[in-house]
Amino acid sequence: MTARNFPESFVWGSATAAYQIEGAATEDGRGRSIWDTYSHTPGRTLNGDTGDVAADHYHRWPQDLDHIAGLGLSAYRFSISWPRVQPGGSGRFNPAGLDFYARLVDGLLERGIRPVATMYHWDLPQELEDAGGWPARDTALRFEEYASGIVGALGDRVHTWTTLNEPWCSAYLGYGSGVHAPGRTEPAAALAAVHHLNLAHGLAGRVVRELVPSAELSVTLNLHVVRGASGSDADRDAVRRIDALANRAFLGPMLDGAYPADLLADTAAVTDWSFVRSGDEKLIAVPLDVLGVNYYSSTLVRAWDGHSARSDADGHGASTHSPWVGAEDVDFLPQPGPYTAMGWNIDPPAFTELLLRLRHDYPGQPLMITENGAAFDDVVAADGRVHDDRRIDYLRRHIGAVADARAQGVDVRGYFVWSLLDNFEWGYGYDRRFGIIRVDYDTQERLWKDSAHWYHRLAHTGHLDG
Ligand code: FCB
Repeated sequence: MTARNFPESFVWGSATAAYQIEGAATEDGRGRSIWDTYSHTPGRTLNGDTGDVAADHYHRWPQDLDHIAGLGLSAYRFSISWPRVQPGGSGRFNPAGLDFYARLVDGLLERGIRPVATMYHWDLPQELEDAGGWPARDTALRFEEYASGIVGALGDRVHTWTTLNEPWCSAYLGYGSGVHAPGRTEPAAALAAVHHLNLAHGLAGRVVRELVPSAELSVTLNLHVVRGASGSDADRDAVRRIDALANRAFLGPMLDGAYPADLLADTAAVTDWSFVRSGDEKLIAVPLDVLGVNYYSSTLVRAWDGHSARSDADGHGASTHSPWVGAEDVDFLPQPGPYTAMGWNIDPPAFTELLLRLRHDYPGQPLMITENGAAFDDVVAADGRVHDDRRIDYLRRHIGAVADARAQGVDVRGYFVWSLLDNFEWGYGYDRRFGIIRVDYDTQERLWKDSAHWYHRLAHTGHLDG
């Protein structure tokens, strides 16, 4: 049976991202990012929501850190806004922006909370997009320069440096389906973006290694658990193709030092991958102290016969363009419920399966769950509280899935709930609430939901109830 107890060394944390919580979009010399442009473009986000104010964390960070401390968490995963610290994306750094993160990091350390900093959680300086964005190699070189600036300034006060958050989303949603900034729908550009994000990871990872050898290095991937509708050869091949695009396009160069041959062959009609230069793949494979894993739901596919009606339930927003470039003959099937408010299916066993697979494919690679959580339509009840039982149930079952994997020998070192606060959920704006702490966007008041009280107890006891 499952061990429901986590050791004291297990890291309990919460996660956020700069554009989703900070606000202060034009303050203290912050430049513009692709998300400023995208969210201000009519029709791009639900209700036209933008991150201009968000959860006003830029002004309220001391109270927010007090909440993290109050929750008894030992780590906080946040992201640094590139345009805030280096407006324009090259050259001059903005001292006021760097100061903000220095104060944040010091504030965490004073409270005994481990800072886990993500260098890139999707807010590319607009100038770099204008110069070609992630499909352009130069963006990776600019990222190396940006990394040197922030690592130089914050250095070993940051416990873990995470280069990228979910490059899958940056590449395929940003440049393939266009449901994320910058909203381009160019299949070849999406694959070039995959490579240049990988390259950026390798270059920035080497900066961390050189400047702060004592810091931990990581990257966060949203790995997909892809299942086939049947065991037929065609369906198995559909699974293989999506696994290549979703998982091995990143795991391959990062952990094996090479792109998988089948990925290159599958996408040959889209691109010849000539943007991969000799030596790139070796450079990308900088050894990782921990691999960050984000998990929310699972994926079901079948081979498409070319004429029957397609489901295309890929769960990543409405777009006539698929993020799965080069896999037009794969159909995404609706999954059995229940679902979260995102329409994502709830599948904790798939989480265990994913962690077991990683141990199998990369034995000895320590793992960290850097995001997991759920949006539900929360309401403040008559007693003034948010009784978010479904979120508690989601968290309990997914943390249980982590316990199951640990019981089978998977080296998972910690868990960060997504998210600390309700925030700007990208294309869905403020409509989808992921926080364990509710944000009242009229008053910016913070209110612990029942899930926050539950998580607090878990972090304190290390014992999973229920
Ligand atoms: C992940 C993102 C995070 C948040 C959650 C719900 O893909 O990394 O910013 O939007 O999904």
